[in-house]
Amino acid sequence: MSTGRNSTYAVLLTFLVVGIFACRHPLPEEEVQLPDEVIIDYGTPYDLVIPPFFPPMDIPADNPLTVEGVELGRYLFWEKKLSGNNTMSCGSCHLPDKGFSDPNQFSIGETGAIGTRQAMPLVNMGWSTTFFWDGRAPSLEIQILEPIENPIEMNDSWINVVQEIASDPLYPPKFAGAFGSTEVTKEKIAKAIASFLRTMISADSKFDRQRIGQYFFTEEEQRGFNLFITEGGDPQDNPTFQGGADCFHCHGFGAMQMTDYLFHNNGLDATFENDPGRFLVTLNELDSGKFKTPSLRNIELTSPYMHDGRFTTLEQVIEHYNGGGTPSSTIDPFMKFTTGGLQLTDQKKADLLAFLKCLTDTSFLTNPAFQDPH
Ligand code: HEC
Ligand code: HEC
Repeated sequence: MSTGRNSTYAVLLTFLVVGIFACRHPLPEEEVQLPDEVIIDYGTPYDLVIPPFFPPMDIPADNPLTVEGVELGRYLFWEKKLSGNNTMSCGSCHLPDKGFSDPNQFSIGETGAIGTRQAMPLVNMGWSTTFFWDGRAPSLEIQILEPIENPIEMNDSWINVVQEIASDPLYPPKFAGAFGSTEVTKEKIAKAIASFLRTMISADSKFDRQRIGQYFFTEEEQRGFNLFITEGGDPQDNPTFQGGADCFHCHGFGAMQMTDYLFHNNGLDATFENDPGRFLVTLNELDSGKFKTPSLRNIELTSPYMHDGRFTTLEQVIEHYNGGGTPSSTIDPFMKFTTGGLQLTDQKKADLLAFLKCLTDTSFLTNPAFQDPH
């Protein structure tokens, strides 16, 4: 395994060297700095099983999955010392029985301050390419650095967290096992939690089992799935009308995640002053009102819904899409039936709901490997 890794690094290094020399304006020779080759010779490689039909997972070369790293990450995910007054862990807002999300519309932070966005469900994070509703974090490692110091979340300082963790006798041996030294740093904390999140794989819902032939949809569920993947619209003014619910364009199921990982405006508001979403990251007006398409896995349990938690039931969500949404300057072309709406019958709405419930994965939510170890 370690030879495998070394050769991976050798390949990466080669790309880097080739990349540098292929550059149109090469840097003067003395400025070319190659990073030291990272040799990771500690920890037991973690045997990550990629479920059927899932794409491979991109794991950063400088944070390989190890049994010890994942275990440390689990302790840290559930560690209340990560918050200012030691009352709140990541798991306080990402509750397992709520699909690792928060039943509150807005999460209540360590100080009692209330945020402005709904906590996102944590599931199959290893396949996500950007993090947060506006996608401002490009990796899990970077995402994790944020909530600790966020005054409306855990409201602590890294200096303090690092000291507290280092002086808890539980941790130095775990850091040694995961990183080869007892030294605690914020980067190591983030790496370990990221590793833990990468192992939180949900692939045992009815939907997953149906795909591998271990479950057969009821007629209602099958009709719901067909609606999910079929175009919709008003037959009067739409030649492509197929009577579907048209969810699949954005909540794509090809990679089994029920999301395209892109940013869309799904027609919630006419204007965006409350939360301009992706615009906050790109400062491009065309991104106003766009948010990351969430996965629909475990959606039955992750109420309330949308970035601001405005809907409490899936029936309301279906009604939102059925109505076609609110027109605005950046509404997505796939929300193409703002006049007339999808025109789903009550039967079709019930079918769609039945399919959405097929995305619940109880064995994932109750998996002892993800619960609080403290
Ligand atoms: C006070 C509640 C709260 C706490 C504590 C909290 N989170 Fe979150 N989490 C949220 C909210 C709210 C969002 C969405 C924030 C946004 O988009 O601006 C979020 C988003 C995320 C996301 C992005 C998911 C996605 O699909 O893009 C990840 C990953 C995550 N949190 C992990 C963690 C980890 C790890 C910790 C502990 C270090 C943590 N959270 C602590 C409330 C919380
Ligand atoms: C144009 C792309 C697009 C289409 C089409 C679409 N969605 Fe969405 N969906 C999104 C985006 C983006 C969000 C997040 C929006 C926000 O919070 O501002 C979302 C949010 C949701 C949520 C809430 C998820 C959560 O964690 O809060 C549910 C449920 C949902 N969609 C179901 C559906 C269903 C069912 C359909 C088909 C009837 C559908 N969507 C069609 C893009 C789309």
